[in-house]
Amino acid sequence: MQDKIDKTLKEAHNFEVENPSDLEKFRIRFLGKKGIIPELFDEFKNLPHSEKKETGKILNELKKTVQVKIVESARKLSVKHENQISIDLTLPAEQLPAGSRHPISVVRKEIIEIFSRIGFTVSDGPEIEDDWHVFSALNFPSEHPARDMQDTFFIFKNPDILLRTHTSSVQVRVMNSTRPPIRTISPGRVFRNEAISARSHCIFHQIEGLYVDENVSFADLKQTLQFFAKELFGEDTKIRLRPSFFPFTEPSGEMDVSCSCKGEGCKLCKNTGWLEVLGCGMVDPNVLRDCNIDPEKYTGFAFGLGIERIALLKYDIKDIRLYFENDVRFLNQFSAII
Ligand code: DAH
Repeated sequence: MQDKIDKTLKEAHNFEVENPSDLEKFRIRFLGKKGIIPELFDEFKNLPHSEKKETGKILNELKKTVQVKIVESARKLSVKHENQISIDLTLPAEQLPAGSRHPISVVRKEIIEIFSRIGFTVSDGPEIEDDWHVFSALNFPSEHPARDMQDTFFIFKNPDILLRTHTSSVQVRVMNSTRPPIRTISPGRVFRNEAISARSHCIFHQIEGLYVDENVSFADLKQTLQFFAKELFGEDTKIRLRPSFFPFTEPSGEMDVSCSCKGEGCKLCKNTGWLEVLGCGMVDPNVLRDCNIDPEKYTGFAFGLGIERIALLKYDIKDIRLYFENDVRFLNQFSAII
């Protein structure tokens, strides 16, 4: 029996674990029901009484040695496993796809920066407005077609509460809450009850400009717009002003910028060489009066432009709906612009 014990001990000592199944085989071979150690304990029962004390001690030690071997081997395996799955901290991190600014935000930011260089602040107003701020204070006669249900989204069919159709409403809010000199631009979302097509949408963005002070003239308006056009579209850009009509400005005009085709003819400018960009004019004395600003003392100019249209001209975008679809194939094209 002593021989068998020595052999078993040697085998247990020499065991080198490679994988979990080896370890399980080892455990069954030594400690399983019909394993070597239970077998030895069976034999032990038949030993003469005089040998029992000594052999029992050796057998118990053998069992303990095997148990320790199993625990150690299991630990070795788990360390090996951890090493296999451990993270290499020296590897560079996986690149997270960076988002990009929406083209409307890009253009809005650029326009704000241009006007802030000549002293314009940024002001804000609510998207849900009342009739007075959107129409009445801006000199719209009560029968003006812009008040039609077709153009305006009314809230709860209440003719007084509506989604603003233009950011000119912020002019009124600014003139009501501050005194001249006022030099501000108001970017924001506007809403019109129009069918959605490649050219028009029911939600779009505008920037309103307003300058009110003593002795503000049409020449100041023209100079400001010329500066803006050159900064936005390039030094060679020319502007032209055509007479127009808006209830809140008198006289009123529309500004065109020269097309980059330089009049040679292209689809964008429909071969005219000019692109329509914004509406503008001298603030109507009625509007100043409605906002408690003395039209005898102060004059002002205002202008309003559509951001979608500017972005469309700047980046040659063919369909206004693309701005609102959030198709990453479209948006990714602006990822280089910060
Ligand atoms: N509010 C006008 C529109 O939505 C744009 C506009 C035209 C604003 C002339 C102005 C302006 O301030 O003077 O079409």
